[in-house]
Amino acid sequence: MSRCDELGSITDEPGRLTRTFASPAMRRANKLVGSWMRDAGLQVHEDAAFNLLGRWNSTQRGVKTFLLGSHLDTVRDAGKYDGPLGVLTAIAAVQLLRERGVKLPFNLEVVGFSDEEGVRYQTAYLGSRALASTLTAAELARLAERGQPCPPVGQRQKLADKAVRAPFEPLTQILKAHRPRGEFLGYAEVHIEQGPVLEKNNLPVGVVTAIAGQSRLHVEFYGIAGHAGTVPMNLRHDALAGTAEFVLAVERCGMLATVGKLEVAPGASNVIPGHAAFTLDVRDQSDARRLGAVRTLHDQAKAIARRRGLKLTWTPVQQTAAVQCDKRLTQIFSKCVAQRGLEVLQLPSGAGHDAVAISAICPVAMLFVRCKDGISHNPAESVQAGDARVGVEVLADFISRLADVGQASRLSPFKI
Ligand code: GLV
Ligand code: MN
Ligand code: MN
Repeated sequence: MSRCDELGSITDEPGRLTRTFASPAMRRANKLVGSWMRDAGLQVHEDAAFNLLGRWNSTQRGVKTFLLGSHLDTVRDAGKYDGPLGVLTAIAAVQLLRERGVKLPFNLEVVGFSDEEGVRYQTAYLGSRALASTLTAAELARLAERGQPCPPVGQRQKLADKAVRAPFEPLTQILKAHRPRGEFLGYAEVHIEQGPVLEKNNLPVGVVTAIAGQSRLHVEFYGIAGHAGTVPMNLRHDALAGTAEFVLAVERCGMLATVGKLEVAPGASNVIPGHAAFTLDVRDQSDARRLGAVRTLHDQAKAIARRRGLKLTWTPVQQTAAVQCDKRLTQIFSKCVAQRGLEVLQLPSGAGHDAVAISAICPVAMLFVRCKDGISHNPAESVQAGDARVGVEVLADFISRLADVGQASRLSPFKI
């Protein structure tokens, strides 16, 4: 846990934890976590997408690799555990496996992904998608145009923007992080639950069954800026009032849906807003339900624009389908939890994880660790050391079991 604290002090913004893709703080975090990986006997390198990788090669030659990890980037004003806990438990599990003298019939690689949160480009998984080779140069070029220096607030940040942007132009260089198809046997990620279910059930860990799909969009209303004291209320084309009406429609859409960022221009107390730009994030375990809700919201936005004489732009930024965790890997996690005398609670994830991106190239599984009051994406995020310890032990047991299966069959643990 002291490592989570130390890592939590590495930030792009003094006074609060914000660490975004390819930023100076991320580079410093990779250096520090890289040193911990080395201490655990891993061979370390940073790939072209700023993913940090630590490798334990099997003594058996020509075998595939099992991947463990999570992400090292954060949201703005973040807690210390969303992401880093999964990377640090993986490193601790490697240490435990070495102490136990486990021989691996596959290579093991621990990864700290560079962009799970999508703060900088409003699109998640840049690091894991680069590794999984599911990004295209055209997509990255579009993103680079829209790229947000992070975080765009205040004078202090303006000074930091240059440095934050500097290290990775052009963005297409991250494509070089791709790994050969078929290289990975599977991926396992430990992550804080970010919800209250484990705490309600008085359990330190839970096994994840599936990860909700997401739609992320960029929406803009264009109205007419005008004098706050002279234009009568019934003659206004107020972009912010239209947005306010839409935000309430989002709240009532019957889905997990959020407008999380809003920018209003020109932005003065005596000027009618002529322009409002905002994000929309919609999630559900059912892709059909989610896509249906996005269509309905689009229709509602069009109706608001018509009625208020506004222009609307509606730009899908990212869609990820719901992902089922691999049944065999999930069963192994469940056995490892039960072996410790704990009730096995299986639960879906409403949050997105790098496992979504990695599911494109291999089976994935996840273990959740209880967090206090279910609070996350908030500096109040808190995890008990004892719960993190259970996470480390279950993860080490999981790898030991996989190794046993692999040794017994003298084959890869999975046919892929
Ligand atoms: C990641 O934390 C997400 O679900 O947005
Ligand atoms: Mn996360
Ligand atoms: Mn997060």
